Amino acid sequence: HAVRLKDYQPPEFLIDRVDLHFELDPDRTLVESILQLRRNPAATRGDGSLVLHGEQLDLEAIEIDGHPLTGSEFGVDQDSLTLHRIPDRFSLLTRVRIHPSLNTALEGLYQSGDMLCTQCEAEGFRRITYFLDRPDVMARFTTTLVADKARFPVLLSNGNPIEARDLDGGRHLVRWEDPFPKPSYLFALIAGDLSAIEDRFTTASGREVMLKIFVEPQNVDKCDHAMRSLKKAMRWDEERFGREYDLDIFMIVAVSHFNMGAMENKGLNVFNDKFVLARPDTATDVDFDGIESVIAHEYFHNWTGNRITCRDWFQLSLKEGFTVYRDQEFSADVGSRGVKRISDVRLLRAHQFSEDAGPMAHPVRPDSYIEINNFYTATVYQKGAEVVRMQANLLGPEAFRRATDLYFERHDGQAVTTEDFVRCMEDASGCDLTQFRRWYEQAGTPELTAEGEFDAETGVYTLSVRQFTPPTPGQPEKSPFHVPLAIGLLGADGEDLPLRLEGESEVPRAGTRVLELRKEEERFRFVGLSAKPVPSLLRAFPAPVKLRFEQSDEDLMFLMAHDSDGFNRWDAAQTLMQRLLLTLVRDPDHVVPDRFCDAFRSALLDTAGDQALLAEVLTLPTEGYLADQMDVVDVDGIHRAHAVLERRIGECLRADLLGVYRANAGDGSPYAFTPQAVGRRAIRNLALHYLMQAPDAEILGLCQDQFANGDNMTDVMAALSLLANHGGTEGKAALEAFYRRWSKESLVIDKWFAVQASCSREDALNQVLHLMEHPDFSLRNPNRVRSLIGVFCNANQVRFHAPDGGGYRFLADRVLELDPLNPQIASRLLKSMIRWRRFDRVRQSLMCAELHRILDTEELSKDVYEVASKALEAA
Ligand code: ARG
Ligand code: ZN
Repeated sequence: HAVRLKDYQPPEFLIDRVDLHFELDPDRTLVESILQLRRNPAATRGDGSLVLHGEQLDLEAIEIDGHPLTGSEFGVDQDSLTLHRIPDRFSLLTRVRIHPSLNTALEGLYQSGDMLCTQCEAEGFRRITYFLDRPDVMARFTTTLVADKARFPVLLSNGNPIEARDLDGGRHLVRWEDPFPKPSYLFALIAGDLSAIEDRFTTASGREVMLKIFVEPQNVDKCDHAMRSLKKAMRWDEERFGREYDLDIFMIVAVSHFNMGAMENKGLNVFNDKFVLARPDTATDVDFDGIESVIAHEYFHNWTGNRITCRDWFQLSLKEGFTVYRDQEFSADVGSRGVKRISDVRLLRAHQFSEDAGPMAHPVRPDSYIEINNFYTATVYQKGAEVVRMQANLLGPEAFRRATDLYFERHDGQAVTTEDFVRCMEDASGCDLTQFRRWYEQAGTPELTAEGEFDAETGVYTLSVRQFTPPTPGQPEKSPFHVPLAIGLLGADGEDLPLRLEGESEVPRAGTRVLELRKEEERFRFVGLSAKPVPSLLRAFPAPVKLRFEQSDEDLMFLMAHDSDGFNRWDAAQTLMQRLLLTLVRDPDHVVPDRFCDAFRSALLDTAGDQALLAEVLTLPTEGYLADQMDVVDVDGIHRAHAVLERRIGECLRADLLGVYRANAGDGSPYAFTPQAVGRRAIRNLALHYLMQAPDAEILGLCQDQFANGDNMTDVMAALSLLANHGGTEGKAALEAFYRRWSKESLVIDKWFAVQASCSREDALNQVLHLMEHPDFSLRNPNRVRSLIGVFCNANQVRFHAPDGGGYRFLADRVLELDPLNPQIASRLLKSMIRWRRFDRVRQSLMCAELHRILDTEELSKDVYEVASKALEAA
């Protein structure tokens, strides 16, 4: 039951117009739809019948051109409506009943608290009405909403409002019209008793746009950051990509039950409230950052996704990869570019590389799926963004801008493919991207093996690079990729040297140079060098690859101190720490060398640089990332090594860390979300983190004081997490105080659940089981599920992978419990177990048994079935 790219067929019918009429009621909503259908001149003719998508709809009436159909003229089953013998052009009326309050899958129209809302991407619209629910069918929508006025005073849909009036019986009606043709997945409606903050934006060409953010009334004081972010994003898209907004009104709605981050519905973005609501005392710097980038991401979709959309769901990265690239660039421009690059690469390495190495590895453009919801992945999003970034870098800024201009002009109003995107890149630049296209087609992370050799006699440094991409499911053999490889060579003084390749007459300026790899093995000879240089490879991470390069600890420390590329200073530090940690895993008696502490100290005391960057440099690789570096994961060894090194840092640098902690105290001015202030909090809380690994009374006192008196959630949360991990009466007291203070703020209570779920204390699983019984816990709220179950399974490696298999049993039980309610969330959770083959025999067989138990369960969703079955497929 897999869907395959090679089977794509254009739709037999097109839909020019849609008129929707809703009589909204949480228990029983009436949906009347009138579709203007017309045979697609570009399609091959089928058997004369037409199949529309539809699920969980109670059909009450059906008419073609005003004539009710008789039983023999149509057929209905679980997921479709078939019309036999139809004209080439006709109008179809259907009337269906749907049941929002019973919709726990949160796809289609559902109830969240007191409001009604929708999520249609990818295939949720078919749970609202019968339709050709595929992205290459683009129609003009008019939506009429009728509801009880007291209960649902606010009624929203896509486009511009064109009518509003009261009806009898305390009801009212609002009509919306969206002038832009769009696929059904971009449809949205909202009904509720909501408050809004308002602002205005004047576009570059002088169009006045009304901006509104709708939230539940108690949250109106948490919308300012979202509004500021929106206006910044709108301006940035005009300046950087020449993209203006195109309707009179742009709306955002915050919803507390939401499967994903947010959704770019035309003119009416619907958000997980986590990515809208923030006040300095309720949200951390990470939350502020997430809001800024998700608001931008969804706004940017207006052009990359909505005006130009995907032909089919295999092209998902056309909109997601490009839009992630755009939001990453936006965050880099409005914040700190260096820190942004590091956190993006950290995420890519942690999630995408591990996805590529597991049983669900797939190309940026997948070629088959069982359930498309399983393919909203790090590969499609984050690797997709890297693939766009590589093209931007290969073309250079001017040609890339010409290419995106061409893309927007050539394909406006169309549903297109990643191939169409690449062709615009080529047509606007003259570059040949034939080989580059493999980045869309082949899964797996390429591994580069580099070797350097210096010939003192001739002054030539030879760099040889081989590439190899391991097999992935369905792709046993890979062809070489076109890889941009940015490098520098450092002289003994730490300065960049000019990189002159053999045969070149001109001496280039000193700095970074981009080499292009195309063959399996390439060799570059740099001439005119007076001494052996220290190479700095993969500067700013120019391609989503792994690098193997034998470099001495001394060279890495040299790079850490001198590399002109901030990213590589960070990466050198990470490699050093990773080496040391893996040595500690293999040999628990290994002593952390003094020179490590010295290097750490001199970095820590270097106050000249960016504090946020410094915090990144001094943060150890996570236990999960270390696991990815081992052939067989040593769960306990990694946890022990990590703890040993953190404690050692805390002990041998105690005085310096205390100094940094004190020097970076706030100056009493109110919270600001600026790169400087964020950096200060980051380095200060990192210092406290190391100090708290072996705290004495003084340190513990500092931490408790920060917890009790911190004036912002970043500092309070940092202290709470340290106290909870410390345990004892201090930990218990802090958790209780925090709960009492914030019990009415559900996003803050999510943090309270998460901090306990990630606690590495031995009884963590029992705590989690206990918290499942807490009155505030609910399987019906995805944020809550993620903060307790998701965090335990993904951010608490040592306890989730406990050798007795308790964590695995717990996860499988939750997956089976959630699957009938919300398959998307169940399947996401299950993904934390799909890399079971990477662990030791005992754990393998425990995980394998749980996966089998799931797979043997009757009536699994397609979502969970696909993940469980692929996890168990032969390696
Ligand atoms: N398009 C949304 C975004 O990235 C995500 C929607 C995902 N929906 C889903 N059912 N998987 O911005
Ligand atoms: Zn997106």
